[in-house]
Amino acid sequence: MSELVPTLREQFPALHQQVNGQPLIYLDNAATTQKPLAVLQAMEHFYRNDNANVHRASHALSARATAAFEAARSTVARFINAGDPSEVIWTRGTTESINLVAASWGDSLQAGDEILVSTLEHHANIVPWQLAAERCGAIVRPIPLNASGDIDLAAYQALLGPRTRLVAVGHVSNALGTVNPVAELTRLAKAAGALVLIDGAQAAAHLPIDVQLIGCDFYAFSGHKMYGPTGIGVLWGRRELLEKMPPWQGGGEMIERVSFAGTTFNQLPFKFEAGTPHMAGAIGLAAAIDFLQAQDRQALLAHEQALTRYLAEQLQALPGVNLVGNPAQRLGAVSFLLADIHPQDAGTLLDMQGVAVRVGHHCAMPLMESLGLKGTIRASLACYSSQQDVDALITAIGKLEDFF
Ligand SMILES: Cc1ncc(COP(=O)(O)O)c(C=O)c1O
Repeated sequence: MSELVPTLREQFPALHQQVNGQPLIYLDNAATTQKPLAVLQAMEHFYRNDNANVHRASHALSARATAAFEAARSTVARFINAGDPSEVIWTRGTTESINLVAASWGDSLQAGDEILVSTLEHHANIVPWQLAAERCGAIVRPIPLNASGDIDLAAYQALLGPRTRLVAVGHVSNALGTVNPVAELTRLAKAAGALVLIDGAQAAAHLPIDVQLIGCDFYAFSGHKMYGPTGIGVLWGRRELLEKMPPWQGGGEMIERVSFAGTTFNQLPFKFEAGTPHMAGAIGLAAAIDFLQAQDRQALLAHEQALTRYLAEQLQALPGVNLVGNPAQRLGAVSFLLADIHPQDAGTLLDMQGVAVRVGHHCAMPLMESLGLKGTIRASLACYSSQQDVDALITAIGKLEDFF
């Protein structure tokens, strides 16, 4: 399907192993991706050579660590076309990025204010808003989907109004693979006077991201879903909003001056980065971005789109397989059900054949409820996924009947 894949696969050591006596077929990339050598080496290099705390000490290692850490921030800023690196805040991941906005910006919510979230959302883009809304009597309103699993644009427009303070939507759904028209959703929200937060957890590995082109106010993503390490993520926010928002966590680094008479806070982005950050994580994430940017991104995207289509078509052609959702644009993840086999059993039996997929509600219980399902089986792709991976999944599903 794509001649890029063999060279890419060589760079991911974890792909080359046997699981349960079978070659590993890793189709759980929406949960987390494997890591290329460049990321492993960058993190090892940091710990072996430059490890020191950033921003605080006046010695050579600390200066090197600080330079690498801040260079990583600039790499992220370029990757998402942020106006300035100071708009890039390090977090533990998408979940923490959204919680930061919900806790800090959420302080300004008032009773009766409305936050719109789509029915597709991951719990990380629902529960923080529910918690923020509960504190002040605001309301979280779900945006319904149409039958194919796309956001119902007419219903969305009808929900937008003078009480809407924020729209929080995913760029790509982790459960159905739906690619949302985020620029259009943002334009409509802006016309209604609302702010927009985009959950980019499932987009960052696949799509070019340009926060200025989208026009959103906040964009969140995780390192580990885009070939980087766990425990590091990004919140991008518009400078003028971040300036006005109160700090979230208190501690070292986020202060300018502390006294028992009162404390003043550091400038952006440090105001939101209390405590020692995940330095090696930030450097690893920058290495993942460099790895991605060194590829022909257009060719990679074309490969992933074609493979997503192939995966959906091959599954659909199997007797007893039902795809869940048929979104206008699907990327990376395909959810399905088997007529006679519970998803949990299917997951275990596929694993016995070396095939790693995810089963369950995919942290999207409201979506499952709206579909009348308890869970699905999800196969999800990365840049290194191949037609052979998909074929191996299809063969393994074909053998499931033999187990009963
Ligand atoms: C769409 C989406 N949003 C948010 C998250 C949460 O990401 P993390 O666990 O890295 O914070 C995930 C993880 O699966 C996701 O798929």
